Amino acid sequence: MTTTRDEAAGELHPSGDDRFALVDKHLKRVRYEQDQLIETLHVAQDVFGYLSDDVLIYVARALMLPPSMVYGVATFYQLFTFEAPGDHACTVCTGTACYVKGADDIVQSVREAHDVAAGATSEDGRLTLKTARCLGSCGLAPVVVLDGTVHGHLDAAEVLALVQQALEEEEAD
Ligand code: FES
Repeated sequence: MTTTRDEAAGELHPSGDDRFALVDKHLKRVRYEQDQLIETLHVAQDVFGYLSDDVLIYVARALMLPPSMVYGVATFYQLFTFEAPGDHACTVCTGTACYVKGADDIVQSVREAHDVAAGATSEDGRLTLKTARCLGSCGLAPVVVLDGTVHGHLDAAEVLALVQQALEEEEAD
């Protein structure tokens, strides 16, 4: 007996990871339209936190697109990330307004203090450091987003203190 794609949607993925069911639900809602690729990648990233090879291949199969094309589209957009994020994420805007207000100092300070390269996660998995182009809040420059909260007008020392506080709060939990 064969299972149609619609019937399969919502069933538990063979890996046992039920997050795939959420992606399936979205795919079903958009009727597996290939032009929904970017939207589907967004949903997958929201669900998994990042786009692993497995997830990219899964989406490619579901939309019947070549994996190379899906990978190409995903890597074209800065919004997608391909590594599992750390427990905390610090994104520093390095757009022009933020750059002139010291964004580079902030990146360097966090990098040195936590031994994590920009675009990577620390070895202990606790902190991901990212940079972004203009986040659209230049009036707050330099802008830092820490665990989803936007902070503006902070210098490197203040950002370091915030990051430290976030890491310590987690330890206290
Ligand atoms: S340049 Fe950083 S918010 Fe615009």
